[in-house]
Amino acid sequence: MQTRYQLIRSLADGKFHSGEWLAQQLGLSRAAVWKQIKGLREQWEMEIHAVSGRGYRLAHPLELLQKERILALLSPEIRCTLGGLEIHDSIGSTSEHLMQQATAGAPNGQICLAERQTAGRGRRGRKWISPYGSNIYLSLLWQFPLAPIELSGVSLAAGLAVMRALKRLGVTEIGLKWPNDILWQERKLAGLLLEVTGESEGPSQVILGVGLNTCLPNQQGSRIDQPWVDLGSIPGGQQVGRNQLAAELIHQLINALECFEREKLVSLLDEWRQQDLYHNKTVALQMGSQTIVGKHVGIDKNGALLLSHAGEVKAYFAGEVSLRPSQGDGHANTID
Ligand code: ATP
Ligand code: BTN
Repeated sequence: MQTRYQLIRSLADGKFHSGEWLAQQLGLSRAAVWKQIKGLREQWEMEIHAVSGRGYRLAHPLELLQKERILALLSPEIRCTLGGLEIHDSIGSTSEHLMQQATAGAPNGQICLAERQTAGRGRRGRKWISPYGSNIYLSLLWQFPLAPIELSGVSLAAGLAVMRALKRLGVTEIGLKWPNDILWQERKLAGLLLEVTGESEGPSQVILGVGLNTCLPNQQGSRIDQPWVDLGSIPGGQQVGRNQLAAELIHQLINALECFEREKLVSLLDEWRQQDLYHNKTVALQMGSQTIVGKHVGIDKNGALLLSHAGEVKAYFAGEVSLRPSQGDGHANTID
């Protein structure tokens, strides 16, 4: 496997490299280089051009993640807060890995990044498509002196942090879908997964996972069963480097978690509402086999969505609920 990663590193600049040069770099025969290229194409679905007389090149150059670069981009305060920063070439799931690390006593603020996930996960057992080098897969371990029940709003704070990071880097026209998806024109750019454990009176720990598409190849994207987008396709997104993005995400996530610990959602709610794509719109809330259509009239101080339906306003927590835009005419109804 080591050879495969060395080969990717040699090709990362997106330029042509001859089979002979690659063979020399990797200490392999040219036939063995070809076999490796075949493996990358067939098993990892990487798009690699082969042109006789010129050699091989990646269809898109890759900016690989580098620990030293990310650390250098963080402020001294944030560096002090970090428990540690791990970068893996390939891993099952960065969140699953951190969960195991946490059980083994990993410190607060431990971060795990990966170039590729083989078992990336979304909410409620759904899959997160995670090809090599083309997106950000980041998980962060955070301990709170609070009871798990007090953390109901933390996923909104984390979503806002991802928005702030993207905006700081010049990405525009994006918004939030409750509880914490980041969308561009109703297409999913990023998603967050928060897994909370702890004693009923506290303390609690959160494993916060962020998946953010930077350049998602269509081949893999075609397996996603809802509209999606990547940074490379949206205004202000093309120039964002992955190391810079990882550093800005770490910065904003830690700031937002510290703020949440001090004052919950109090100082974050107004900013959240301003970027809420579905506020005052008719939406469908899916809960298992039941769907309730109503008007999204706000978010309360615990992060619950307020839905006006059948003449009353009720609060819904994110756990088992998915929000979808509704094609309806504004009349609230229930569908089973
Ligand atoms: P919810 O509104 O409940 O968050 P969701 O359908 O977005 O619902 P999640 O569990 O949040 O579901 O995210 C997983 C879903 O995201 C997958 O089922 C798939 O539709 C989509 N998905 C998977 N990988 C990607 C990706 N790389 N980029 C964008 N969307 C993805
Ligand atoms: C969602 O929208 O459901 C959340 C997707 C979260 C994906 C990220 S990628 C990094 C971390 N590791 C995982 O296995 N999932 C999260």
